[in-house]
Amino acid sequence: MSATQRIRKAVIPAAGLGTRFLPATKAMPKEMLPVVDEPAIQYVVAEASRAGLDDILMITGQNKRSMEDHFDRAPVLEATLRDKGDTKKLEAIQHATNLGDLHYVRQGQALGLGHAVLCGKQHVGNEPFAVLLGDDLIDPRDELLTTMMEAQARLGGSVIAVMEVPQEAVSAYGVVDAGGKHLEPGAQVVPVHRLVEKPPAEEAPSNLAIIGRYVLHPAIFTELERTPPGKGGEIQLTDALQAMAAIPAEDGGGVHAVIFRGRRYDTGDKLSYIKAVVTLAAGREDLGPELRPWLKEFAQSI
Ligand code: UTP
Repeated sequence: MSATQRIRKAVIPAAGLGTRFLPATKAMPKEMLPVVDEPAIQYVVAEASRAGLDDILMITGQNKRSMEDHFDRAPVLEATLRDKGDTKKLEAIQHATNLGDLHYVRQGQALGLGHAVLCGKQHVGNEPFAVLLGDDLIDPRDELLTTMMEAQARLGGSVIAVMEVPQEAVSAYGVVDAGGKHLEPGAQVVPVHRLVEKPPAEEAPSNLAIIGRYVLHPAIFTELERTPPGKGGEIQLTDALQAMAAIPAEDGGGVHAVIFRGRRYDTGDKLSYIKAVVTLAAGREDLGPELRPWLKEFAQSI
């Protein structure tokens, strides 16, 4: 396998229990929560598609039906809209079906993100691939994945995405040591020496938090197979990547991080979800002109 092999496949883990968003997620996956008028997962699939990843494997769990249905054809609805001459809505529902070649595999038990990625082993095979977390939304106006894929093609190994977060927030994330606290201003790709899942703030090696985009070397699968449960009793992708950082480059080891400075929302977190809906709606041509002045007025009234 050459390090510069074109990346074609994306794995989208969407089998988590979504406990932070209960009770809304009791009977439906959090990835189906609407962000304005599209489910969160559609933004993620569209992002993969824009980056040229046309083979998409979704890792699903118990409530998978709605996700599969959403990306499938809907002949009755399509015929009704066609009869009504509502081409705009027809195009909108057909768009979701044309985003790529979608495949599904079930995780069975939510044993952690690392385990979810491992469920993609057979489908992915021996080639580098992207992982996009189904509840992590990168603003479509900002670019990340292509930069990561270019970095992986250039540097080999695996590439993760990190963002600077306030020091008090680090314990909610995987955190990296990217060569000390003082990054060069404007640095975009940095080597990663160590990764720690959800460290206490005072033990965190930096305030660079791992966000939900990865471009992984297939050697990760062997590593995941021997990764024991870590934080929270879950098989952690961060732990497998920590092992990958120590493996020689010729064996697929080495980890680099792309520092993302754009807009990112965790739609599995209530507050971040609300910010995603408001920010994206305010930027839309159909909703923004009415929403923006209302938001200003509302902000002054509270
Ligand atoms: P999260 O940790 O945000 O998901 O995982 P969660 O466990 O559903 O969250 P809460 O804390 O209970 O609210 C990040 C991504 O990994 C997927 C999730 O669906 C989400 O997209 N995931 C997580 C899996 O697919 N399987 C798992 O076992 C865990």
